[in-house]
Amino acid sequence: MARGLTLADTAQNRLRPVNPASSPYLSGRFAPVDRETDADDLRVEGTIPADIDGVFMRNGPNPKFPPLGSYTYPLEGDGMIHAVWIGGGKARYRNRWVWTNGLRAEDRAGRALYGGIMTPAFVDQNLLGPDPDPGWPTKLDAFINIVRHADRFLALEEGTPPYEVSPELQTIGRFDFGGGLPLGMCAHPRIDPVTGEMVVFRYDIEEPFLTWAIVGPDGSVTRPPSAVPGIDKAFMIHDFTITEHYAVFVIGPAVLDVNAMLAGGSMLQWQPDLGTRIVLVPRAGDGPVSTVELDPFWVWHFANAYEDGDRVVADFPSWSGLSLAAGDRRAAGDQRTPVAGQFTRVSIDPARGAATVTSVGDHPSEFPRIDDRLTGRRHRYLTVGAASGKHDLARGEHDRLVRWDMSTGRSEAWDTDASIGEVVFVPRNGASGELDGYYMTLARSVADDHSWLYVWDAADFPCPPRARIAIPATVPNGLHANWFARRP
Ligand SMILES: [Fe+2]
Repeated sequence: MARGLTLADTAQNRLRPVNPASSPYLSGRFAPVDRETDADDLRVEGTIPADIDGVFMRNGPNPKFPPLGSYTYPLEGDGMIHAVWIGGGKARYRNRWVWTNGLRAEDRAGRALYGGIMTPAFVDQNLLGPDPDPGWPTKLDAFINIVRHADRFLALEEGTPPYEVSPELQTIGRFDFGGGLPLGMCAHPRIDPVTGEMVVFRYDIEEPFLTWAIVGPDGSVTRPPSAVPGIDKAFMIHDFTITEHYAVFVIGPAVLDVNAMLAGGSMLQWQPDLGTRIVLVPRAGDGPVSTVELDPFWVWHFANAYEDGDRVVADFPSWSGLSLAAGDRRAAGDQRTPVAGQFTRVSIDPARGAATVTSVGDHPSEFPRIDDRLTGRRHRYLTVGAASGKHDLARGEHDRLVRWDMSTGRSEAWDTDASIGEVVFVPRNGASGELDGYYMTLARSVADDHSWLYVWDAADFPCPPRARIAIPATVPNGLHANWFARRP
């Protein structure tokens, strides 16, 4: 990965641990926790609906040791999964690190061994054990997402092999799909609710720069990694989306450049002259790829996409530039102008290679989600997190839950007194409607710093949470969450 690195450039012993107090993303509501906790029969304000039965899991970076040299949020950090199991009107909590081999090595050493991604370090291989994780000198941190597919729970980073964890969060080990995805996968696979397929992609700093693959419903790779044609640079691509027939890539002009980083510049170069392109790849793998060229914008996450006749519609928060959190301007290409966010719908005509871009709302938002049972199919409702302006929040924190009705283009919102995480739709057992269920998220009270799991009734939204489940431990701000219904 890091061709051109020399020992003199990156001597590990030159790197000093980051002072957590000096980093906004290692302190306050982002401060990592230092223990694994179990708690049964959690205290509840309000009532947990009796028709919720499953587990809510959320992943996020939680460095066990002060990072060496640099810490870039949200691009690194040991993964920690926080989970709340709910059933019979009761709840229990557990959190566990994802015990990667890199983390185990650091735990044996009692300190960080790897450098931050902006300060790669040559690690004494003798310290890493007999089966070091791939990716050195970058540490494999499975901190971005947690998904379930083919009855496996997979903790995901982007571009590396997942780590499998048990349903009770014990780390099982690296998982490469029986050798089918030897280099790993993205942090944002899309699981087709109709076929059971998991569609994945992976970007790289060398050719092929972008590949995609399909994992069948039984967990075996049915379409091996295939290059997306026409991708001639190492674009960073965090998320994608699918429809019934397409994998949909929106490729913004964020280019990875390791040599620039080693010369003291940015690892990520924002190159607006390249524009943003949308690439539709037929999932059947045998049709022509459609490409649409647009003015530059950036997308972290997609709500969903679907086919509407001959067109493909996709909904997502968009940004005028690469919107990394504050304090990491070097990673973001040191853009001088703050980026602007809005909510956007694109409607693509694959046959003509054209697209219509519509601004649905002009406020920044993130973590868009739908009822996952509609992945790749037409949705009406989606939720995002946003900032109300009522609280002193760090960039990237949200206190407002917004629900868009895309059939009317209108939104409704509920303002909390907490920093809320990604909001997940939890269907009521046995129900099928997009509003027949609950919205669920982890929340950290702004006033008293307590951690909660909030549960809203989607049918009544906007409204106060129907239940606030008290977490008897601190839960830092994190990244992606999912709901996993109990298997019959
Ligand atoms: Fe993400």
